[in-house]
Amino acid sequence: MSSPISPYPVIAIDGPSASGKGTVAARVADHLGWAYLDSGALYRLTALAAQQQDVAWDDEVSLALLAQHLPVCFGEGCVLLAGADVTEAIRSEAVGMGASAVAKLPAVRTALLQRQRDFLKAPGLVADGRDMASVVFPYAVLKIFLTASAPVRAERRAKQLGVAVGSAEYTRILQDIEKRDEADRNRSVAPLKPTADAHVLDTSNLDILHSVQKVLDWYQQI
Ligand code: DC
Repeated sequence: MSSPISPYPVIAIDGPSASGKGTVAARVADHLGWAYLDSGALYRLTALAAQQQDVAWDDEVSLALLAQHLPVCFGEGCVLLAGADVTEAIRSEAVGMGASAVAKLPAVRTALLQRQRDFLKAPGLVADGRDMASVVFPYAVLKIFLTASAPVRAERRAKQLGVAVGSAEYTRILQDIEKRDEADRNRSVAPLKPTADAHVLDTSNLDILHSVQKVLDWYQQI
């Protein structure tokens, strides 16, 4: 099913940091044989490119230029920036904080808008981020707001990093998640919140398989 203004259907999956939306979105795309956009990676790449070129994370004009001309390449499970593999580098907490800072700047968001839309191709696209449903693909045929409580998300992140739940490091991860949520929710441009027409999927008590199935079920029902 497509929309009147888009030749191919889009499933938009938005949600907070570490909610598992990336994994769910990638698996839904894989299941349907559709393209996948990890829009957060573009903000992370902008922050990393800025760091490499000594551009401050609040220098809106230079960042927008960088974002517009970002020499990126998304391969099978890898991300290249100017030919160098930065798959791991863009996942660091520091680059995540940089991404959150650059994502607040309207000119950066505008510079990345068309780049995100260019991911749409046949037979369809699953896009994950914060404003997929509200700004980038408002005509998405299915909109999901995927979330989980902050402690559950911190636990998931801790497990990925091999950190003990309840440790000082875990507390730091939880605080980082809460800080990022606060920043993403309260910024003036494209704040993180579900659109009125989104299905809210709370995965606090749901594993990845059931979360993917729920999204596929909703898609079947439209
Ligand atoms: O999803 P993520 O953690 O990789 O995103 C990194 C940062 O980028 C996050 O702080 C919010 C921002 N972001 C955004 O503002 N809009 C998007 N569509 C995707 C990410």
